[in-house]
Amino acid sequence: MPAIVLIGAQWGDEGKGKATDLLGGSVDYVVKFNGGNNAGHTVVIGDQTYALHLLPSGILSPGCTPVIANGVVVDLGVLVEEIDALEERGVDTGKLLLSANAHVIPPYNRVLDRVTERFLGSRKIGTTGRGIGPTYADKMNRVGIRVQDLYDESILRQKIEASLATKNQLLVKIYNRRAVEVEETMAELLRHAERLRPMVADTALVLNDALDRGETVLFEAGQATLLDVDHGTYPFVTSSNATAGGACTGAGVAPTRVDRVVGIFKAYTTRVGEGPFPTELEDEHGQFLRDAGHEYGTTTGRPRRCGWADAVIGRFARRINGITDLVVTKLDVLTGLDTIPVCVAYDVQGERFDEMPVNQSDFHHARPVYEELPGWQEDITGCRTFEELPANAQAYVRRLEELTGARVSVVGVGPGRDQSIVLHDLLGRD
Ligand code: GDP
Ligand code: IMO
Ligand code: MG
Repeated sequence: MPAIVLIGAQWGDEGKGKATDLLGGSVDYVVKFNGGNNAGHTVVIGDQTYALHLLPSGILSPGCTPVIANGVVVDLGVLVEEIDALEERGVDTGKLLLSANAHVIPPYNRVLDRVTERFLGSRKIGTTGRGIGPTYADKMNRVGIRVQDLYDESILRQKIEASLATKNQLLVKIYNRRAVEVEETMAELLRHAERLRPMVADTALVLNDALDRGETVLFEAGQATLLDVDHGTYPFVTSSNATAGGACTGAGVAPTRVDRVVGIFKAYTTRVGEGPFPTELEDEHGQFLRDAGHEYGTTTGRPRRCGWADAVIGRFARRINGITDLVVTKLDVLTGLDTIPVCVAYDVQGERFDEMPVNQSDFHHARPVYEELPGWQEDITGCRTFEELPANAQAYVRRLEELTGARVSVVGVGPGRDQSIVLHDLLGRD
């Protein structure tokens, strides 16, 4: 089972980092294929907690080669800081590969991201302010800067000059900010160029060669299905393809090579930033989930919006991504509730929707139709087999499986590396 894509099935922060880490010891490559340092993937190993933003979580597994592929947008300063911070903690980052085709986030795009949001006021997206959107826009506009451009100063200068010619108009005349100088941008982008040079590679070639040799490659998505620029709750999305197909374009690996798609699904739902969220709870239940699940952003520290599980979203994610295996995370957080509502359909002004409405306004007006499932009171954080879970916890997982139509292969019962119940091997070895 050589190529596995791992994606978020909701609005992010489902526990992709922990799930990737669970597989890290058994795979040869872990590839980040979309997004940038808007992601925050937390991995807990013993008493150590690692928050990864730009680096794939596989960097924590010795023996695994971490790859930043072409579909990623890279803040070079953040990359170097993250490498240094890990090295200081004794993590070997020496195998890291960086695609020559990945786009870099120039400093002016961080500024533009923030001022655009401010300008939008109440219509803002609630971005992470890392320059992600403007950098993907540059890529599509064909005015982006790629990692390979760092090694040809004349090309780099031409690209920055061309880009700033229009961006400075925008910054000065519309947003009332100071103009950005070509030289300061050159200096910032070139600061780490020599240091990064040894890791720059044709990562699509490396990964295809590895698959030809029968090695195992795990593609770790940033963000999630409903934040995908095509399939998510547009415009309240990120600017990349966070769904399974994004792994093909974002890493240069053909769809015919992908064997499995693992969907990470939190036992309830969270969202950071603006946009519709039918099962959101703005009452004490929402606060219960936020407290019990420590739902505060890894990247921005923002409190996450919390709500019950939504099976309509689960079904949608299974369909869009072709999920073969579901990892249900944070089941332990639901301990202590008498009953647990699960959204099975939406009511939109009297009309029932069993599937995601294609019309955005319908989704904005969707009211959840709930099924109430009985809760459990027992601490489940020490359970390591499915049978050890209380009957109601087992029934909750089985109901999610039925409602989403995807087989549950792993259940998370705590943040620790060992706090997982494996029902089916994600690499298909059983
Ligand atoms: P990601 O962005 O999808 O990697 O998710 P985040 O790391 O942003 O957020 C998930 C949080 O939940 C992290 O703090 C994890 O350590 C934690 N976590 C992951 N799985 C579990 C679980 O099964 N139970 C509990 N209690 N915490 C978990
Ligand atoms: P991980 O990988 C949750 C959200 C932002 C905002 C929208 C657009 O940790 O699951 P952007 O800065 O990407 O232009 O912001 O997307 N967002 C995330 N929400 N988890 C993430 O990543 C996210 N990355 C971006 O909050 O609503
Ligand atoms: Mg996260």
